[in-house]
Amino acid sequence: MSLRFDGKVAIVTGAGGGLGRTYALELAKRGCKVVVNDLGGDRHGTSASSSMADKVVQEIKAAGGQAVANYDSVEFGDKIVKTAIDNFGRIDIVINNAGILRDVSLLKMTELDWDLIFKVHVKGAYAVTKAAWPYMRDQKYGRIVVTSSNAGVHGNFGQANYAAAKSALIGFANSLAQEGAKYNILANTLVPTAGSRLTETVMPKNLVDALKPEYVTPLVTYMVHESFQESGKLFEAGAGWYGTIQYYKGKGKVISNASADDIAKNWSTITDMAGAEFIGTISEQSGRLMALLDENESSSAPSGGSSSGSAFP
Ligand code: NAI
Repeated sequence: MSLRFDGKVAIVTGAGGGLGRTYALELAKRGCKVVVNDLGGDRHGTSASSSMADKVVQEIKAAGGQAVANYDSVEFGDKIVKTAIDNFGRIDIVINNAGILRDVSLLKMTELDWDLIFKVHVKGAYAVTKAAWPYMRDQKYGRIVVTSSNAGVHGNFGQANYAAAKSALIGFANSLAQEGAKYNILANTLVPTAGSRLTETVMPKNLVDALKPEYVTPLVTYMVHESFQESGKLFEAGAGWYGTIQYYKGKGKVISNASADDIAKNWSTITDMAGAEFIGTISEQSGRLMALLDENESSSAPSGGSSSGSAFP
């Protein structure tokens, strides 16, 4: 087992079941000390119990690993980080995994459906990561994972609240990747698919059984290892498939002093993805925009007309 975590301390939120449990078990097996956080409530974000986290801690200890339970809701991230510091003296890895679902179409959605989803997924990831950040900055080392979803990337019927929250987490991690770069704090997004109590209501039983959470675990384990050097990226795992999701921008078209009619007239070129280019960071995007402005300003196209200039330098 070459990817070891000896001397490292991880918080895995929502580690009492499903995907989080497998991350906690695997990290502990590889020498990591693990804070097993779980509120122990139901899948809709109500109720609480200590039994889920306790059970996973017992499993880890029975296998010879080191772990401690924490039962706080992720919105109280400082308490979860305190558990790591009080018991293990440091914090190196945060896997923001805790999650709930409150699926309902927009018209039937209540404030509670919206607020609870944002509280657990977005506020939770913020609160735990924010509390861990000063320790990571001071030790110049940190590995952070946030858990998004294909619903966050593509949207999904009946999941406007969940999809919005999962999408927010991508922007959160990508921003932390930039803020953490000079402190060797790396932040990335995971898009998993697995059978769990969260998905058993939306997937047929044979799919739930086939999509083992353990198929996702190896990717997450590598994403939080010290040899992993990517930051601000999205990685996906499910059914034994591992891959990445990236943003590409179409070449588009520069149109000087465009009117709505010019946009309509050029729609097929504006939306053409042939020759699309990968945009890695916001500074690459700003650089392109500046170059386009120069190109636009120096264009000799008549006012109100459209130039035939290429979109990108
Ligand atoms: P799960 O329901 O088995 O595990 C989530 C865990 O989070 C539960 O043990 C729950 O008690 C805990 N939790 C809920 N609210 C909490 C809170 N406020 N504080 C602390 N713990 C809390 O679900 P699963 O499938 O393992 O999901 C893990 C993560 O992966 C979630 O963020 C979910 O949205 C995400 N995800 C899962 C997918 C899947 O196919 N299973 C697909 C896309 C994303």
